Amino acid sequence: MNRTVRSVEDVLALLDGLFASESEAGRLGTGDGKDFWDRFYADRSRPVPFFVSKPDENLAAHLDRGLIAPCRALDLGCGAGRNALYLASRGFQVDAVDLSPVATAWGKDRAQEAGVDVRFLCGDAFTLPAAELSGPYDLVVDSGCFHHLPPHRRTSYLGLLDRVLAPGGHLALTSFAAGDGGMGSELTDAELYRRGDLQGGLAYTPESLRWIFSDLVEVELRRMREEPPESELFGVTFLWTALFRRGAAA
Ligand SMILES: C[S@@+](CC[C@H](N)C(=O)[O-])C[C@H]1O[C@@H](n2cnc3c(N)ncnc32)[C@H](O)[C@@H]1O
Repeated sequence: MNRTVRSVEDVLALLDGLFASESEAGRLGTGDGKDFWDRFYADRSRPVPFFVSKPDENLAAHLDRGLIAPCRALDLGCGAGRNALYLASRGFQVDAVDLSPVATAWGKDRAQEAGVDVRFLCGDAFTLPAAELSGPYDLVVDSGCFHHLPPHRRTSYLGLLDRVLAPGGHLALTSFAAGDGGMGSELTDAELYRRGDLQGGLAYTPESLRWIFSDLVEVELRRMREEPPESELFGVTFLWTALFRRGAAA
């Protein structure tokens, strides 16, 4: 008999294991999520909407409206770095982290072509040593990573924010939107564990996002706006976009 739970980390690892048959990013700290995303990014010519090298429309709008300004930024689950590259081109000092070395290699190629400076890190953002992912960051951007995490890893996510987001700093988040038959699963957390399957990502309501990020101040929460193919921006309507701010230190 192999009974190993002794710490909270052991519990989290055990819960990761319940999604053992799941072939996507839910399995943090294991190779499976990485392998899934490596295969996902292997063919750069696939018609995946977010393979375009365009920033999210909401992120560009935050800059245009002066809600965020050049600062130290982290692109969390950066993929091929489209938002990281945009921020770097606008004068931000950018770190970008992703589980998949295939994705970060693509991001590095793009950054070189564009002549912008982004520090790409490869690994599980929640277990990378603090020496590599130390922050503090004034802006954390997450476009589509959070909704691929299993429920128990929200605690790891909030722990990371707590560690790296500077007082007064912002979280710019996009996630699958529940409620209109769009992308993402609307099963309860308990049902996800019963099935051992993350269903390709979790859909969130505005209320659930507000509840999860209730230690932060909501600046804006709205649907992403659709952008036409010829636009310089990325926009699809099945995502929530949110901007949260961490309170200033007392
Ligand atoms: C839907 S993709 C979005 C990629 C990118 N943000 C974009 O919008 O183009 C989600 C990304 O999150 C990454 N990811 C998932 N879990 C992660 C983790 N624990 N640490 C770092 N990256 C992670 C995946 O490798 C994948 O590239």
